[in-house]
Amino acid sequence: MPTRIVIDCDPGTDDAIAILLAAASDELDLAAVTVVAGNVGLDRTLPNALRVLELAGRADVPVSGGAARPLIWPVEQRALVHGVDGLGDAGIGPPAASAQTTHAADVLAALDGATLVAIGPLTNVAIALARHPGAAAGIRQLIWMGGAFAGGNVTAAAEFNCWWDPEAAARVLQAGIDLVIVPLDATRHATVTPAEIALLAPDAQAMLGHYLEVCRTRYGVDECRLHDPLAVAVLLDEAVVELVDARVEVDCTRDVSRGATLAERHGRTGPANARVAFAADTERFRSLLLSHLRQK
Ligand code: RIB
Ligand code: CA
Repeated sequence: MPTRIVIDCDPGTDDAIAILLAAASDELDLAAVTVVAGNVGLDRTLPNALRVLELAGRADVPVSGGAARPLIWPVEQRALVHGVDGLGDAGIGPPAASAQTTHAADVLAALDGATLVAIGPLTNVAIALARHPGAAAGIRQLIWMGGAFAGGNVTAAAEFNCWWDPEAAARVLQAGIDLVIVPLDATRHATVTPAEIALLAPDAQAMLGHYLEVCRTRYGVDECRLHDPLAVAVLLDEAVVELVDARVEVDCTRDVSRGATLAERHGRTGPANARVAFAADTERFRSLLLSHLRQK
């Protein structure tokens, strides 16, 4: 039986590839998509999710919008790694479909045993848990692309999805949900080079083009880190990562370390609340991605 999943996302080019991967996987039943602001504003992440599902041939999947801002403290929009439109300014165009009127938090509160793949800030999930006390029990497992334990990608301390809403991340990590965290420590190994990108569908290549250029000019590397697709890949082949039990906590101060995630692995600060992927197998990830998305 395919695993029923819901994806909460902030598309985002790597979110887009993650959605394409999930939609192309017979092992997964993509039941719904919920959307949060993050990479770009909700006014763009929401239509982007609709458009990517159309590209995947899954315009039937219901899409619901959620939070346009973090729970408590506002954030300023950071460098547009994903382009102005959020999909690499690749001319992907507007969707034909419309979003549901149901709020994302109310969708996430009624998962009824589905697996939640959260690949953006956790604001929608936190609101669902606050509005519906029984929401956590309905989440079979939560796989979150977020956090970093050896340095961030927005500040020295914080990874973007956590940096954008640390209070939301803290609330979700304390909710007692069966949690797998896929941090930068693992996603830095989930890379594709121009050779792999050239084997993908034209739209996927176009969306990744801007991202690849940013990686070349900003980081001096000729490859892209596909953070969000790795979270989906873990569901398809858990051996693509190494999972370690840890107690993960979030820095919610408003100092230089805001949004940092700390992992304690020896029970000193309390029981483990997550299994954390501290590494990933690059070749295994690439072959899994291409086995589902290769077009040539
Ligand atoms: O830090 C990487 C994460 O932040 C990814 O989910 C990417 O899409 C951005 O949201
Ligand atoms: Ca994302």
